[in-house]
Amino acid sequence: MGRHLPFPLQLEVLIMGRQEREDESSSDRGGCPVLVTERLVLRAPHKEDTDAIACLANNVRVATMVSRMPHPYTRKDAAEFIKRTKTGALGKCIYAVTDADNGRFLGCCGVEPQQDAVTLELGYWIGEPFWGKGYATEAAHAVIDMAFRTRDIEFIDVRCRVTNPGSRRVIHKCGFQFQGTGMVTSLALGASVPVEWYRLDRKTWISLRSWAAA
Ligand SMILES: CC(C)(COP(=O)(O)OP(=O)(O)OC[C@H]1O[C@@H](n2cnc3c(N)ncnc32)[C@H](O)[C@@H]1OP(=O)(O)O)[C@@H](O)C(=O)NCCC(=O)NCCS
Repeated sequence: MGRHLPFPLQLEVLIMGRQEREDESSSDRGGCPVLVTERLVLRAPHKEDTDAIACLANNVRVATMVSRMPHPYTRKDAAEFIKRTKTGALGKCIYAVTDADNGRFLGCCGVEPQQDAVTLELGYWIGEPFWGKGYATEAAHAVIDMAFRTRDIEFIDVRCRVTNPGSRRVIHKCGFQFQGTGMVTSLALGASVPVEWYRLDRKTWISLRSWAAA
């Protein structure tokens, strides 16, 4: 890793690197390694993120575009969210997306296993002050790569509201293919909303990786 990181992060990357090797040698491979990209560090959400999450998530333009975010969003919601990210299904990874230069919390990105055991569902949100800088795409690429590399899965699915062109563009830039439409319940709206369903399969991901390398 060429990038210089603040000491605590560097330490965490080293620790997580060791954990990743342990996970790779065990059969469940359930770890969520810290991910470092050109501009971002994706790591587990910490207690210290509570204020930033509470501030950035308390935004109707964010809450109404994701399925399970309450609105208004309080500090208590943020604290409970951070606690929930520490538990859950094997293979679930929820990351805090942070600025690699200064550690600032920018948003969240993660994957959760689906019932069929070969599919993960991708989700993400970025705080509004940081929209339009390519962060969601960069974070999604890193999480997708990690998921296909470390898990025995065939598919990653993602759903976005039909009224969400920004997220649709992120989905297209990640190579997902349109599967169909459906309805998803929105906690913030207290109603079902129409969504588009997209899927990225392992073969397509491998092709995309080799095109990028070429
Ligand atoms: C959707 C979201 C994650 C995008 O984050 P971001 O960091 O701004 O995304 P990126 O910069 O990587 O890419 C956004 C793309 O959408 C495009 N875009 C944004 N708004 C758009 C609009 N109204 N119409 C068309 N394209 C739009 C941008 O131009 C960019 O494409 P480009 O790189 O080709 O120019 C962010 O707006 C967000 O968190 N929204 C609320 C929560 C949400 O929608 N989460 C996703 C749930 S499926």
